[in-house]
Amino acid sequence: MRLLGDWLESNSRKFGSRVILAADVTGPYESRVERASALVSLLKERIVAVKVNWHLLLPHGVLGLRELVERCGEAGLPVIADMKLNDIGSTNAEAAGTLFTNGFDALIANPFVGYKEGIEELMAKSHEMQKGVLLLVYMSHSGAKEGYGLKVGGEPLYLRFARETRKWGADGAIVSSKSPSIIRKVRSVLRKEQVILSPGVGFQGGDAGRAVKAGSDYVIVGRSIIEAKDPSKSADELNQELAVVGA
Ligand code: XMP
Repeated sequence: MRLLGDWLESNSRKFGSRVILAADVTGPYESRVERASALVSLLKERIVAVKVNWHLLLPHGVLGLRELVERCGEAGLPVIADMKLNDIGSTNAEAAGTLFTNGFDALIANPFVGYKEGIEELMAKSHEMQKGVLLLVYMSHSGAKEGYGLKVGGEPLYLRFARETRKWGADGAIVSSKSPSIIRKVRSVLRKEQVILSPGVGFQGGDAGRAVKAGSDYVIVGRSIIEAKDPSKSADELNQELAVVGA
């Protein structure tokens, strides 16, 4: 069994990177998979994983992404489905089964649905298929405070979600790079082997270095790399910055 955290760490050592590529290709639908595949080929030794979101999943579906997923597999890169899965257990398990059967290595789910008849079946499916689950603990957009930052029983919801990430045995948590103080609190709750992945870098205003210093293991980066004139250079610069911070 290959744990997601171990896989990411091994890639991080091999490639000197803490960057997860958000392959959020836009523009004509017909060429999105091809362009995403080209990005993976270009960046495969500069990143530790690839995250796929609705930009690809909606127009192409899981079956239409097989080639891209295979290309990531050949490059040794885990593929994470950013579904923010948020349904009853049986539906969660069905979605996870479809993704995992078709080569996806991990998915992102929303702990808001709760464990019993919610996340429970998802965890069971991921264990059965030896795949990863990451839970949304604090999102990167400004409105995140209106939901994930709500006080419940005297504490912010994200702290409860961090404790649940630990208790439910997920592979890790998604915490915004724009909130280093929250990253620090979540880090102090999680088990050592549970990873923190932080989106929101660059385009959304998050600072990769500050996130890693606060306790993030990896940053999720889309537009700052894929819309750069030179995506390789942009990834290299991030890797150099994080090599110094995370050393
Ligand atoms: P950019 O272009 O802003 O893309 O670097 C970020 C990618 O990550 C997704 N995103 C999130 N995913 N929790 C998630 O699970 C979050 O808080 C979050 N914030 C951004 C975003 O949809 C895009 O794919």
